Amino acid sequence: MSLHGRDLVSIRDLSREEIEQLLAAARKMIPVAEGSKTASSLADKIVAMAFFEPSTRTRLSFEAAVQRLGGRCLTIADAGATSMRKGESLYDTIRMLSSYADAIVLRHPNEGAARLAARASERPIVNAGDGAGQHPTQTLLDLATMQEAFGTLTGLKVVLLGDLKYGRTVHSLAFALAQFGSEIVLCSPPSLRLPDDHREELRRAGARLSVEPDVRRALADADVLYVTRIQKERFSDEEEYHAVAGSYRVDNALLAGTKPRLIVMHPLPRAGEIAPEVDETPHAAYFRQAFLAVPVRMALLNEILGPTRRGG
Ligand code: CP
Repeated sequence: MSLHGRDLVSIRDLSREEIEQLLAAARKMIPVAEGSKTASSLADKIVAMAFFEPSTRTRLSFEAAVQRLGGRCLTIADAGATSMRKGESLYDTIRMLSSYADAIVLRHPNEGAARLAARASERPIVNAGDGAGQHPTQTLLDLATMQEAFGTLTGLKVVLLGDLKYGRTVHSLAFALAQFGSEIVLCSPPSLRLPDDHREELRRAGARLSVEPDVRRALADADVLYVTRIQKERFSDEEEYHAVAGSYRVDNALLAGTKPRLIVMHPLPRAGEIAPEVDETPHAAYFRQAFLAVPVRMALLNEILGPTRRGG
């Protein structure tokens, strides 16, 4: 694998082999992420966090990853405090930022923003979420969570529940699951179904894909329940949002009768889709998932910013 100097805009930018190698490298980073081991592989590096949309986990876990590896961050956490308020374009902002930092982690409300940034930047761009588009590093940590729980990513039955229309995490994750040969069950309110172009692409990728609107039936024999929040901020019509708000909720009653080893995942933040009582059950994997963001992002940054591999 050589990701040195490469952008990560979409999960499609990584082969299955590269994903497997990143997950193996991430496992080795866990003691560093926990603070029980030190590392300094990014000692001379500056990574810019350009966040033009709210974030807790993605920005802070990237910052933790950089700092645990001895690097430093330049952070935009509030678009309103930048010269974009004066009308500066994203292109110019990124072009300039790429002369200050060794890599740029970008979150932006517009789908396609990371692709545009990759054209503007002289340094690698990592997409940390572009509108309803992609969230490839979330997918890497989602896969790390499943692999840690089951020891494999092949042959799992994964139920994707919730907002499959606007949820960028599921857009990236479904494609990766197809690459690993896991079964995908789509479960959403009718108005939030996975867009046709994504389904088509998944079918072309050979995905084992089915649709089951009834969550209880979807959960039969499932290994993973991946829950997403309804992405309120992406709705142009508030009535459309209110028509689906609160239409699904995972609680202990729903989980009764599922496989004992079923894990419940969520990219977080949650907004009522998972009852707090689930936190106390062995099914809850979402806080471990949030922690694994740090070693996974360490492994990724090490590859992108580390030395060029021979033959790479
Ligand atoms: N999972 C995720 O992207 O969380 P944040 O929006 O808090 O970064």
